[in-house]
Amino acid sequence: MSAQAKITLATLRAMKREGRKFSVLTCYDCTMARLIEGAGVESILVGDTYAEVCLGHPTTLPATMDQMITITQAVRRGAPNVYLIGDMPYLSYQVSVEEAIRNAGRFMSEGGCDAVKIEVDSRLAPTVETMSAASIPIVAHLGLRPQSIHVHGGYRVQGRDVRDARRLMNEAAMMERAGAVMLLLEAVPLELAERIATHTELPVIGCVSGSRTDAQVVVLHDVLGLGAGHPPRSVKRYAELNETCSAAFRAYAADVRAGRFPIDALTASLGDEALSGLDAAAPDGEVVASDRGA
Ligand code: KIV
Repeated sequence: MSAQAKITLATLRAMKREGRKFSVLTCYDCTMARLIEGAGVESILVGDTYAEVCLGHPTTLPATMDQMITITQAVRRGAPNVYLIGDMPYLSYQVSVEEAIRNAGRFMSEGGCDAVKIEVDSRLAPTVETMSAASIPIVAHLGLRPQSIHVHGGYRVQGRDVRDARRLMNEAAMMERAGAVMLLLEAVPLELAERIATHTELPVIGCVSGSRTDAQVVVLHDVLGLGAGHPPRSVKRYAELNETCSAAFRAYAADVRAGRFPIDALTASLGDEALSGLDAAAPDGEVVASDRGA
């Protein structure tokens, strides 16, 4: 694994200016974070998709602040140099701007994040402005907003007609004015994503929105072919870990059943002296394994 220099907002802004694309992966634990940073991926999003891919919920809504902080800390331990974005969970920023600042502050100070992401529309612009004024770098997530799934009425492409596309372009401009440091566009048509990316100096991360943005983000389990999720058809699988893991688990269970694992020659063993000591009668009052029911 190659050591990676610390990626900062300045790095990502320079990449945008120079027309160099960067990649973002979601991540939820230290082991994967280590591998992601080692592979040279510039940024990690600790996504609230954690609730879906790791906890098995049907939506992201059940993710909590405490869970997100715990996994963010684990990811940061594994990847000290990536640009780390913490995803603020449902109702951690919508209730009041005071709560939003306090919760975002936890991602920054306890989680070691470089920025936090919130799902926004025009009504959240004042929140973005106040949070930015409190020195919280915001990634403004526009388009399909999974925390509003029950308002959207399903996982649908956003900005398909002219009116909706204009609304999204306006919202993107509004977020830039409010002080957001980056934009994330989920499930918008590729030409709209391109327009938004070319009309702003902010790095724009695309998610299922075509190749014309400055960066891409994908859910880790989707690119690894891991888990029960059904990724959008544009997501490319770079591995088939469901099959790899299942084969390993089957082989392990078969070895245990057949007595092939573990291998005794590789296991600690008592010497002859200790063995004969064990076989001798235990002195009165001494606790032996069978006394504990073991
Ligand atoms: O939580 C998440 O993983 C996300 C990405 C899908 C953009 O928000």
